[in-house]
Amino acid sequence: MRTQIAIIGSGPSGLLLGQLLTEAGIDNVIIDRVDREYILGRVRAGVLEEGTVALMDHAKASRRLHAEGLPHDGFSLAFDGRDHRIDLFGLTGGKRVTVYGQTELTRDLMDRREAGGATTIYDATDVQPHDFETAKPYITFQKDGTAHRIDCDFIAGCDGFHGASRKAVPDRAITGYERVYPFGWLGILSDVAPVSHELIYANHPRGFALCSMRSETRSRYYIQCALDETVESWTDDRFWDELRRRLPAHHAEALETAPSFEKSIAPLRSFVAEPMRFGRLFLVGDAAHIVPPTGAKGLNLAASDVNYLFAGLLEHYAESSNAGIDAYSQRALARVWKAVRFSWWMTTMMHRFPDSGPFDQKIQEAELDYLTHSQAASKALAENYVGLPY
Ligand code: FAD
Ligand code: DHB
Repeated sequence: MRTQIAIIGSGPSGLLLGQLLTEAGIDNVIIDRVDREYILGRVRAGVLEEGTVALMDHAKASRRLHAEGLPHDGFSLAFDGRDHRIDLFGLTGGKRVTVYGQTELTRDLMDRREAGGATTIYDATDVQPHDFETAKPYITFQKDGTAHRIDCDFIAGCDGFHGASRKAVPDRAITGYERVYPFGWLGILSDVAPVSHELIYANHPRGFALCSMRSETRSRYYIQCALDETVESWTDDRFWDELRRRLPAHHAEALETAPSFEKSIAPLRSFVAEPMRFGRLFLVGDAAHIVPPTGAKGLNLAASDVNYLFAGLLEHYAESSNAGIDAYSQRALARVWKAVRFSWWMTTMMHRFPDSGPFDQKIQEAELDYLTHSQAASKALAENYVGLPY
């Protein structure tokens, strides 16, 4: 088989890139190691920046997002028993975010891809990129016991943190920067009305909590937990009790509860691989970088990588220029590092660290006090939260 762009990974970055390429008439094939239903069963991000929504428009996959996504003009920081609203819209001169689950965005892109007839190969094993330092790269994989090969012009490694693309790059050619945080997030989904119509990020002596949502009748809640905890040890009742204790009293009293239908623990990590291009192999999204979820940047960063790579590939095919491709790594990394900084900062400000002492505690309190009393500090938070420009 031959294609112009072979895309490894059918998560948001692979699907978005594939759809933009298909709309531009550039042939592409997506290969994933699992199947459609497995991918759609992963509950992850929920907040989209305007740039991500614009890319979904460009991909012609945004009809449901505009119909069902919830525009949010602000969110709350809760600490010391009270709420402080960050007026995103006012502080950024009219920008907002859209609450729409990663699962739904992925489903929309998959549906659009299937309707357009582009090829996706699911359940492939041993997916391997080859010869990407030459002009003739290719991918090999196994499917139903048979070996396959796809020849291509370029390979997009959109296969997440544990994928094969980054691992195929020799160690001497790549540098990794990493911070692992000493806690995780326990998240649940439940069909109850959200406790507030905007998101609440809560800093509490018992640990961080986040009240988010998927719709007006479906809530997504998270609490900070220890890394050695298991989902089985968290009954629904225990989760609701703990969440209530970490929220200001008026929210705790208003919290509606019901059985959860999804419960999972995610570890928190910051990681960046440099560079993001190796000859004809590009790393995109989580394959190149991971951020802790505080601030909702992971999915949005995957989208901004896609934006730069798509622009470069379009320039290559439409204008016979490699300028965009050559600039990909540098452009993407400049934005990535700012989001890594923001996610690290927000994580540090909002969580309890097991090894932190009274001094760190005072610094955290001063940070929150400054943030909520300084227009300049609130503005910096808002500008980063809605997403820095591409
Ligand atoms: P992925 O979504 O990881 O997609 C990669 C795809 O590649 C997958 O379909 C995978 O099956 C496939 N793949 C992997 N290895 C191979 C291989 N060897 N061969 C072929 N295919 C392969 N972000 C937020 O903003 N907020 C959140 O609350 C949040 N929660 C998260 C919770 C978890 C548990 C995780 C892991 C991430 C979370 N994120 C969150 C981050 C966000 O979901 C990611 O940034 C986003 O999914 C990145 O998209 P991606 O397409 O680059 O990678
Ligand atoms: C969600 C996740 C986040 O990490 C975040 O900062 C906001 C919302 C969510 O899953 O809804």
